[in-house]
Amino acid sequence: MLKIAVAGLVLAGCTSEQSEEVASAPTYYRDVQPIIQDHCVACHQPGEIGDGHLTSYEEVRALGPIIRGTVETRLMPPWLADPGCNEFAHDPSLSDEQIATIGAWVDAGMPAGDPADAPQEQKSGEGGMSRVDHTLALPVAYEPVLSPDDYRCFLIDWPEDEVRYVTGFGVSPDNKSSVHHVIAFVAPPSQVSIYEGLDAAEQGPGYTCYGGPGGPQDGSTGFLGAWAPGTPPSDLPAGTGIRMAPGSKLIVQVHYNLLSWDGEPDRTAIDVKVDPTVEHEAQWAFFANPAWIFSGQMPIAAGEADATHSFSMDPTDFLYGGRSFYIHQAGLHMHTRGTEATLDIVRGGAGESCLLDIPRWDFNWQFPYRFKEPAIFNPGDQLRIICHWDNSRPQSVGGRAEPPRDLNWGEGTNDEMCLGMLYVTPQ
Ligand code: HEC
Repeated sequence: MLKIAVAGLVLAGCTSEQSEEVASAPTYYRDVQPIIQDHCVACHQPGEIGDGHLTSYEEVRALGPIIRGTVETRLMPPWLADPGCNEFAHDPSLSDEQIATIGAWVDAGMPAGDPADAPQEQKSGEGGMSRVDHTLALPVAYEPVLSPDDYRCFLIDWPEDEVRYVTGFGVSPDNKSSVHHVIAFVAPPSQVSIYEGLDAAEQGPGYTCYGGPGGPQDGSTGFLGAWAPGTPPSDLPAGTGIRMAPGSKLIVQVHYNLLSWDGEPDRTAIDVKVDPTVEHEAQWAFFANPAWIFSGQMPIAAGEADATHSFSMDPTDFLYGGRSFYIHQAGLHMHTRGTEATLDIVRGGAGESCLLDIPRWDFNWQFPYRFKEPAIFNPGDQLRIICHWDNSRPQSVGGRAEPPRDLNWGEGTNDEMCLGMLYVTPQ
């Protein structure tokens, strides 16, 4: 009798503890779905690139433990900038609380909860593009030919016949089964014939290009914007825009990856917003050591596991006749052996300001990172770029494993780069 009573007590205790736990455990509809909807669904839905759809309770539940692993290691959502370096606008990363919520939900057995708690609609997200004035599509539909990766540059006419400023930029990938990333460059009128020559020299629309558009590397070819899956169209920082001269052409580099290609051609388009004037004329400035580019002084020896090159200078004379300038966004560019890269300002007075640090470089996730607050650069400061590469392992080039070889600066798949890109306006 006593034994049974004790057992009964213990059982009762257990049950009440459990039900308390269940009551406070996160549920899918109330706690988890809002996170997944705002941070994951853009890529994890039918027709998008992420493996596995995350649009229903059943789908998310089936992947629950894997989801937990990818958010705890911060592999998902893909966002490579180190948050300890700078604060970024449109940062999709999960907060520590959100990660803990997903962990607690998995621990609790992934309860569904009450569908009435589901978020009403997807948060529209910060940013966005306020207006699209031109949709500039590839001149013709293109069927990729090089497998598994076809890097192709296409020329697109700039449609305005007076000076205009691009104040918003977005990419509409057409065939999402093949378009991996897109970079838009600008050939000013004086360079158009160079790129037309490259285009004419190859059969079919466009021409093969890899690291850049393949023209002069003296900084005279402009940059407009870049897209990787998940990059939303957006207005450029308020009051700023990129000057476009009539007679310019866009050079649009599309990286096609054919591993899950549906066989259909592609006609990707660039969307731009244009205005006749802006308060602050902006430009994308490229930053690298000229000796790397023009005199082969960026050697990366075969077998080196952590090759490093760095360069610093004060670019104010060159950019704005010695005036201070603001940096609003930054990007970094290396090829596939890159492992880590950093852009920072070494202050003339004292101290350093980190602009962008990518501790785990991934060639497939390149896009500019916009700062929450622009950084000021003053004459006497030094802008610094540091790149690291691992050249000790074989590389898959065009589907073949190639042993490490001596590398240097160049535009090919067997070359490397270490390039900073800065969206700047004069003070
Ligand atoms: C910008 C697009 C994008 C966003 C946003 C995104 N993912 Fe992914 N996800 C991918 C891609 C692409 C893959 C395929 C693997 C790869 O290429 O890294 C992937 C793979 C995964 C995988 C499978 C990993 C494996 O080991 O097979 C899981 C799970 C996942 N994502 C969960 C999430 C969750 C959870 C979120 C939101 C917190 C999220 N993803 C946000 C693009 C995205």
